Amino acid sequence: MAVTTRPRKSARRQRMEAAINYPLDWLEERSGLVGGVRYFLFRKVPGDTNWFHTLGSATLTAFLVQAVTGVILAMYYKPDPNSAYQSINHITNDLTLGWLVRGMHKWGASVFIILLFFHMARVFLFGAYKYPRELNWIVGVLLLVTGMLEGFTGYLLPWDQTAYWATVVGINLNGTAPILGPFLADFLRSGAEIGSDTLSRFYSLHMLLIPGLIFALIGLHLYLVVRLGVSSPPWSREAAGGGYSQDGAGPTTNGRAGLTQPTARSGWRRNGGDS
Ligand code: HEM
Repeated sequence: MAVTTRPRKSARRQRMEAAINYPLDWLEERSGLVGGVRYFLFRKVPGDTNWFHTLGSATLTAFLVQAVTGVILAMYYKPDPNSAYQSINHITNDLTLGWLVRGMHKWGASVFIILLFFHMARVFLFGAYKYPRELNWIVGVLLLVTGMLEGFTGYLLPWDQTAYWATVVGINLNGTAPILGPFLADFLRSGAEIGSDTLSRFYSLHMLLIPGLIFALIGLHLYLVVRLGVSSPPWSREAAGGGYSQDGAGPTTNGRAGLTQPTARSGWRRNGGDS
């Protein structure tokens, strides 16, 4: 019987591997971050996941493109009524690849929102919002609201006629809401009329507050995705929201499909009584 032996690594290769691994080992020993990322990337998902399950990651990618192009634009944009429009023109016409970065940010906003809706439709049609993923659906709804607010606040920034009048309509619409409407409109306008204070306010919301919120919500969203596992399609035996046995022994059709079988800290179980 032939015995196969692995070719020995050359000393040079061993040295190279050690040099590459050293910073990773250093970080892992002190933070456990490398193991965490490895767990996130190589965790098991149900065998019957399909292309529709990539829509969440596609939405995430679109958001990251917005974040990167937005940071570059912010280096040249001037949030002042006298110079905002000129600064946008300067970015588009004078800066190297400025037209590309601005185009990516402008069209990327629509791509992000469209993917967001596609992802939400996938989750809805697959019933992936059912137990135990209701909380992640709620986090998703907050992401939807903050995502749309990001689009609304960004639209004013070019400070051209379209931007101005679209914002007038948007603020007036908000103003018609019962009880809170007038306060909301005042807050958005930052005064009685749309002007330089409105632009500063929208800039700050668009650049700092809302993206910060979105990052935090995405972090929570992904934590819950990892904790609960990705659900199987509805035609699978392990589809989300499967049945539960009455004796508290857990799901009958493994409706909690995923890596973690979530149980409240107190040990309380759905249909499970006192276990
Ligand atoms: C910035 C926006 C969002 C990002 C980056 C995002 C990202 C993701 C990712 C990467 C996944 C796992 C893979 C997948 O199922 O596609 C996921 C799952 C999920 N998302 Fe989102 N999502 C966003 C918005 C939303 C919205 C608007 C909703 C619903 C209102 C939502 C509800 C869910 C639910 C319930 C799951 C679990 C699905 C399952 O286990 O099969 N997400 N999301």
